[in-house]
This record gives sequence, structure tokens and C-alpha cells, in this order.
Amino acid sequence: MLSDIVNFLLVSLLSFTIFLKPSYSNSPIQFPCEPPHDYYPFCDTKLPVKTRANSLISLLTIDEKILQLSDNASEISRLGLPSYQWWSESLHGIATNGPGINFNGTVKSATAFPQVIVTAASFNRTLWREVAEAIAVEARAMYNLGQAGLTFWAPNINVFRDPRWGRGQETPGEDPMVTSAYAFEYVRGFQGQTRGVTRRGNDDQLFDNRRSLEEDEDDDEMSGGLMLSACCKHYTAYDLDKWGGHTRLDFNALVTKQDMEETYQPPFQTCIQKAKATCLMCSYNRVNGIPSCANRDLLQKVRNGWGFKGYITSDCDAVANIYENHNFSKTPEDAVAVALKAGTDINCGTYMKRYMRSAINQGKATEKDIDQALFNLFSVLIRVGLFDGNPANSQFANLGYRDVCSSHHRELALEAARQGMVLLKNNHKFLPWNKNKVSSLAVIGPLANTSNINGDYTGYSCNPVTILQGMQKYVKKTFYASGCQDVSCNSSEGIQEAVSIAREAQYVILVVGLDLSQETEELDRYSLLLPGNQTALIKSVAAAIRKPLVLVLTGGGPIDVSFAKEDSQIAGIIWIGYPGETGGEALAEILFGDCNPGGRLPVTWYPESFTSVLMSDMNMRADPSRGYPGRTYKFYTGESVYKFGHGLSYSNFSYKIISAPTNLSLSGNVKAESQRHMLLQRGSAISYVYIEDVASCDSLRFNVEIWVTNNGELDGSQSVLMFSQAPYSYKGAPQKQVIGFDRVHARANRSAESSILIDPCEHLSIVNEQGMKILPLGDHTLLLEDIKHTLSIQL
Ligand SMILES: *[C@@H]1O[C@H](CO)[C@@H](O)[C@H](O)[C@H]1NC(C)=O
Ligand SMILES: *[C@@H]1O[C@H](CO)[C@@H](O)[C@H](O)[C@H]1NC(C)=O
Ligand SMILES: *[C@@H]1O[C@H](CO)[C@@H](O)[C@H](O)[C@H]1NC(C)=O
Ligand SMILES: *[C@@H]1O[C@H](CO)[C@@H](O)[C@H](O)[C@H]1NC(C)=O
Ligand SMILES: *[C@@H]1O[C@H](CO)[C@@H](O)[C@H](O)[C@H]1NC(C)=O
Ligand SMILES: *[C@@H]1O[C@H](CO)[C@@H](O)[C@H](O)[C@H]1NC(C)=O
Ligand SMILES: *[C@@H]1O[C@H](CO)[C@@H](O)[C@H](O)[C@H]1NC(C)=O
Ligand SMILES: *[C@@H]1O[C@H](CO)[C@@H](O)[C@H](O)[C@H]1NC(C)=O
Ligand SMILES: *[C@@H]1O[C@H](CO)[C@@H](O)[C@H](O)[C@H]1NC(C)=O
Ligand SMILES: *[C@@H]1O[C@H](CO)[C@@H](O)[C@H](O)[C@H]1NC(C)=O
Repeated sequence: MLSDIVNFLLVSLLSFTIFLKPSYSNSPIQFPCEPPHDYYPFCDTKLPVKTRANSLISLLTIDEKILQLSDNASEISRLGLPSYQWWSESLHGIATNGPGINFNGTVKSATAFPQVIVTAASFNRTLWREVAEAIAVEARAMYNLGQAGLTFWAPNINVFRDPRWGRGQETPGEDPMVTSAYAFEYVRGFQGQTRGVTRRGNDDQLFDNRRSLEEDEDDDEMSGGLMLSACCKHYTAYDLDKWGGHTRLDFNALVTKQDMEETYQPPFQTCIQKAKATCLMCSYNRVNGIPSCANRDLLQKVRNGWGFKGYITSDCDAVANIYENHNFSKTPEDAVAVALKAGTDINCGTYMKRYMRSAINQGKATEKDIDQALFNLFSVLIRVGLFDGNPANSQFANLGYRDVCSSHHRELALEAARQGMVLLKNNHKFLPWNKNKVSSLAVIGPLANTSNINGDYTGYSCNPVTILQGMQKYVKKTFYASGCQDVSCNSSEGIQEAVSIAREAQYVILVVGLDLSQETEELDRYSLLLPGNQTALIKSVAAAIRKPLVLVLTGGGPIDVSFAKEDSQIAGIIWIGYPGETGGEALAEILFGDCNPGGRLPVTWYPESFTSVLMSDMNMRADPSRGYPGRTYKFYTGESVYKFGHGLSYSNFSYKIISAPTNLSLSGNVKAESQRHMLLQRGSAISYVYIEDVASCDSLRFNVEIWVTNNGELDGSQSVLMFSQAPYSYKGAPQKQVIGFDRVHARANRSAESSILIDPCEHLSIVNEQGMKILPLGDHTLLLEDIKHTLSIQL
């Protein structure tokens, strides 16, 4: 209270002195708080963030305030504030999707890392972190050069619930735990909260409590010093763009409490609560009838429940669609007011700018509501240093032109592509090829000679390599035919040419699959099969040659390639997703044995028959009574083309659990009052404990120590994926769930050790129908490939 009064006096005093200063008129302002506009208290880096934010608010008129409620925040020239564009994009490299970025200055291109689904397939947290840090360096360098903002709208952490989703490529896959871990690494790396922190080998998987607690110590959320702002999007239950009469603008996602707590929310909770992201984006869709950006319960849960201190932006025009598409409010004024009052601080778009004034005049919103939003917005801008004056004086001033497209970043992009590509099939060790013995190679397919294999949310690549170019580095004599005129492959005209070059070559690869003409934002698929005549192309070539061929698949979404899986003429299949600007090199290294693949699929590859399931059905669990097969490896009961986690290596790895507890007692660890209550309610047959009744989850943690042995002839990396199964068939328990993962490297004929930290509350719990986390008592099974380990949990 007292400090509030002091703050108020300070602000008033300083604000007053401003009016004594002469006003200058000068050339267009580039950065806030540059002389002569550097004497405002909001520019004073010695004052607390809160004081600076309140000071700026106190200087604005109501109309100026309203003009801040847009991604295109208006300039306020009397205060030396240029306009600020909140919307910049950085999903897997600096992208052109947001108007905050331009490539027409000194920087003409930026490193195009592989699309997120590919990097995710590495299951390597260190890599995820390093990629995010590298993107942040390029972003901050571009800000210094006036070509980017400081607030970026990535990562996309919606779970990849349906294989048809056009934006699944942007996500880390279908598993909420893996997605949470990715969110943690991306946000921490991007916001620069861990620069200089050395990582601790086997503890890499500790994105959860232990590491974040340590980091929390220097994590004063209302202090400055953030490198950039990252945004957890799209909150929540958003994963349908355009399908079957629904669009994301009008879709009403009907989600059970159980699925909400278990699947849709965990990545967001981690992103906010543990990673401390400074932005949340509310999504286009409704959740159980209420548009996300107007959903006070959902948004306030983030602030009050998860301790969120950043700003909430609407997705672009997701305030307008409250009225225009959802028809949820009666007037545009109601829409802007309901969004603001629910907790949406800023509207990507112009709706709030246009209608907030009349909403206030009509008494639907107040200046106080706006001040609250401005406080959230300005606090973040202060924390990232927007009001610290010319960036030439900031702690990041040294970042510039040479930090974008650097050789270090190129190597990291290449490393991400190597680690993320997934070898799906390799009959009789057909791969790798001996690079000294391949005399000629036919490279066929509509995706073989294009550098546009970056996926969506990209900018201009620094130095893209096509797959054809990648192959030419290894084989002088290459033949090329596109086979199809484009990816939709509507004609069979090119097939004959493809067959004839395939006949001439010693080896053949076919590069087919998906590009953005098949799957992207606002474009979901209807089929999981290869587009158009692609299958005919593959079959024709396979039938025409004596040697088997290798199939290279692009695209983020699963493809039903059952025919190829079974065809012995197709000896190898490798999924490269959207491998980014160095993808052609990485693929060649893998095919010719300079790199041993170790990626694993982060999504289930469903068969075409899955398309009879309504994409709009948000239920995760199978329901045999209506022929519903369920979704993701956790619940899907049907056949898969390839399973979640599938991925081969040129080596053969074996596993051994070296140490893991067999018993775990909760005795003394359940809150006494809760225990009495449980006994009263459920008698002696207590089969589970509510997580909220556990007194100390920390004291229950344990490590599983693992030996991974490489029995092959090549050094290689393998991602250890550990799953668990709940003790008894508790209604709706997942078939299994990921509880930990760790990528390890083992030399040929050698073993490597790995350690997976398990927090039983977090990892061994399941969610009941009421949306409560419970820890079942009895025998849990830990699964490590074909090894089963029993852990008995008792009261
Ligand atoms: C941003 O708003 C200003 C008016 O405040 C307008 O002149 C400008 O065109 C807008 N920019 C964009 C990219 O919409
Ligand atoms: C670059 O593009 C932006 C946005 O289109 C524009 O505002 C700016 O003036 C351009 N800069 C140069 C150097 O052309
Ligand atoms: C919204 O609902 C009203 C009343 O039901 C109807 O008249 C109007 O056309 C609807 N608007 C839209 C955009 O669907
Ligand atoms: C690959 O594409 C480029 C650019 O479209 C073209 O110039 C080149 O001739 C193509 N390569 C072959 C072998 O057709
Ligand atoms: C190919 O066919 C599909 C489906 O008939 C159609 O949507 C698409 O526009 C066609 N593409 C081209 C390039 O003709
Ligand atoms: C394959 O090509 C033929 C002829 O070029 C065309 O008629 C047919 O529609 C194509 N098939 C598909 C599935 O696009
Ligand atoms: C992998 O190695 C194990 C143990 O040496 C062996 O039993 C197994 O058959 C091998 N699997 C393959 C696919 O080579
Ligand atoms: C584990 O618990 C079971 C059942 O309570 C008990 O029989 C067994 O002795 C315990 N084992 C250890 C190693 O404590
Ligand atoms: C691995 O061990 C086998 C059997 O001991 C041996 O034949 C082989 O040369 C070793 N390979 C390497 C790469 O050390
Ligand atoms: C994980 O990624 C990092 C960064 O690229 C790399 O140095 C490390 O070798 C990778 N770990 C494994 C086991 O592949």
C-alpha cells in the first residue's frame, strides 16, 4: 500500500516535470526513449517495471490508450513513441507471416531450421533449446537493425490430435508430455532465460520441477533483462482449420473435462507456469460454447491458477469473429468488451481500435479495464527492453548482421535435420549405400528439385539446398525427373520419363509426399493417401526396375503408405518432413551412411480408413459403441501404418534397466485430513489417491537408470522413450503414456547410460472423468521398448 502511494507520487512528480520540457519536432522516431524523449520515467531503467508501466499509462489519454489495443499499436509522437508492431513470427526461424518482420533491410534472409515436427522427432531437448536460442539471436539481431519486433508468436503447442490438421506440422506432435517439454525448451531458449547455464547431461529431460525450481531463483518475473518474448499458442483446443463445413473461425470444440486436463491444457500449463512465457494467444474456436478470447474462466485460470504475468493476444481477428462468426455477442461493441473483460489484452486486428470507444460510451467497458490490459502489455515491453532507448546501448547490442545466417546456425539447422529424419523401413539393410560404389543415381519426384521444403511459417532461407543438389554432392552422375508437374500430381504424363531415367540408373530415390498445397493453415486434408498420381508414379517406377528403390516422404502430416510398406521393391522409406534449408544435405548424409538416423515419429500414422472419423470430434478416447477408434497412441484402438515412436537406425540397440525402484510408499505422504476423508468416503478399498492430496510430490521422485547398447557397426544416437501403464483398467486410463525420454549417443559395440527422472505425481498419474489427477495404487508398469518393469505403489 505504502509503496503504491510512493509510486503514485513518484509517477505524478515525474509526469509533471515532463510538461516543463520543451517539445521537439524531429525526423521519424525509430526507437522509444531516444533523446530528446529519454527523460520519461517509463524510460528510466532504474525504476521497477511496475512503476514504469504505470507511469506510461498515466501519460496517455483514453483515445491514445485505445489505439494501443492492436498488434499495430499506434505511435504517440508527443512521447517519442513510434508505432509498435506486436506481431512477429519465429516458429522455426524468422518468418514473414507477421508484419513485424521485414527482409528489405541489411538482412535479406534468415536461417530456415526444419519445421517443428521434424526437430521434435529428434526427441533431443538440447537440440530443441539450441535451435530456439539460435532463432532468438537472429531475431534480436534483426530488431537491432530495425527489421523485427521484440514480441514473437511462437511456439505452436496445440497437440496434433487429428492427422488431417494442416498445421500439425507446426507442432511437436501428438503427445502432451512431449509437447510440454518442447514448449519449455523453446520458451526458455527463446526468451533468453538460460543463457550461460550449462546443461547437465542426463538430466536433460528435467524440464519439470527440479530444473525449473533452480532456475526460478533468478527468475524475478517482474524484472527486466528478457531477450525476447515468446507466445504459447493457440489457447485452447484448437486443431481444426477447415474441414467438413467447419472453419476455425466458427468451430465449437466440445471437450470433456477429462480430455481438457489430460490432453489440451498440459502444454499450456507448462509453457506458462514452468517456462514463464510472457505471452498467451487465445484461439479462434469456441471451447464448449464460448469463444476462447471471450472465455473468462479459461483466461483467468492462466493468470490466477498458473501465475501468468505476461500479455494475452487474440489470434488475428479472433475478437471480430466473436461477433461475426460465432455470433456470440450481439454487437461489435459487446465483442470487444467481452474479450477485454475476459482478459484478452490486445487484439491482433483492428476491432478493438474501431469499437472500444463506442463500447466505453455505451458503458460496456471502462478505462480501468483498458488500463489493466495496458499494464500487462507495457510490462512485457519494458521487460524486453523496448523502452531502454536505442538498442545500440543494450546488453544485446553486439548482435547484428553477422549473427544472422551464420555458419554456426547453418550447422545447427543441418544437425536438426539429421537428428529429426525418421527411417521408417530398411529391408535387409538396404541402406546405407556405400558412397564409393554408387556410380549413378536417379532422383525422381515433384519435391526433388525444389528448395521450398521448409513448411509453413518461413521467411527467406540463407542458402537452401535441394534434395537433388544434396545427392549430387555424393554422386556425380545423377538423373532427374519430376514425375509429376507438381505435388497434386493430377496427371500421369511425367511417369514415362521417370521410368526411363530410373532404368538407366544404378540406384533410385523417389521424393514424394506433401507440401503446402496439400496441408497448411486453413487447409486440412481429406485423405491420408499420397496426392493424385503419386502412388501410380511410385508403383510404375518400382515395377520397371530390377533393383529396389528408396522412398523419401515429405510433409508434416501422416501419410498412409501401406502399399509401400509391403512392397519389397521399395526397400527403404525415410520421412524427412519439412527439413529446412539444409535438408538436402542431411538426407544425402543419411542415405550414404555419413549419418546414422535416430529420429522417431512424434505422431501416429493412421490408415486412410481413419478419415471416416469426424475431424470435429474432439474426444480422445475410443467409444466402441459408436465405432469411434480414439486418437493418438494413448487411446487409438485401430491399426496403424506406423506407430508413434517408430524409427529405425542403422544400428541395433538393446536396453537394460540398471536401477529402478520396485516399491513406492505414499505412507506419511498423504495429507492427514485427506486420508481420513478418503477412508470415510471410500472405506478400506482405496485404489487411488488424488494428486492434490499428496503432501510432497518432490520426495516421491526417483531415477530410472538405463544402459543403452549399440550392437551395430556404426556409431549412433537413439532416443530412449519410456512409457507407463496404470495398474488396473481404470475406466478411461490411457493404453500407455510417455513418462520420459532422452536421446543418447552410443559408439558401435558400446553402451551409454541414461537416466530418466520420474515424478510419480506428474508422470504416473492419470486424469479421471471429473478432470482430477489421480495416482492409482497397485502395480504400475514401466515400458522401455520390450522391457517391462513393475513398480508397486502403496499407501
Ligand atoms: C497501422 O496503423 C496506422 C494508423 O495508426 C496505419 O497508418 C498503418 O497503415 C497501420 N499499419 C498496418 C500494417 O496496418
Ligand atoms: C521495408 O518494408 C517495410 C514494411 O513493408 C517498410 O515499412 C520499410 O520502409 C521498408 N524498408 C526499406 C529499407 O525499404
Ligand atoms: C446472428 O444471430 C442473429 C439472430 O439469431 C441472426 O439474425 C444473424 O444473422 C446472425 N449473424 C450471423 C453473422 O450469423
Ligand atoms: C531444377 O530446378 C531449377 C530451378 O527451377 C532449374 O533451373 C534446373 O534446371 C532444375 N534441374 C534439373 C536437373 O532439371
Ligand atoms: C488437382 O486436383 C485436385 C483435386 O481434383 C484439385 O483440387 C487441384 O486444384 C488440382 N491441381 C492442379 C494443379 O490442377
Ligand atoms: C492421374 O492422371 C490421369 C491422367 O493424366 C488423370 O485422369 C487422373 O485423374 C489422375 N489421377 C489422380 C488420382 O489424380
Ligand atoms: C538386435 O540385437 C539383438 C541382440 O544382439 C538381437 O537379438 C536381434 O536379433 C537384433 N535385431 C536386429 C533387427 O538385428
Ligand atoms: C514391496 O511391497 C510388497 C507389498 O507390500 C512387499 O511384499 C515387498 O516386500 C516390498 N518389497 C520391498 C523391496 O520393499
Ligand atoms: C563389434 O564387435 C564385433 C564382435 O565382437 C566385431 O566383429 C566388430 O568388428 C566390432 N565392430 C566395431 C565397429 O568395433
Ligand atoms: C542432441 O543435440 C545436441 C545439439 O545438436 C547434440 O550436440 C547432441 O549430440 C545430441 N544428442 C544426441 C544423443 O544425439
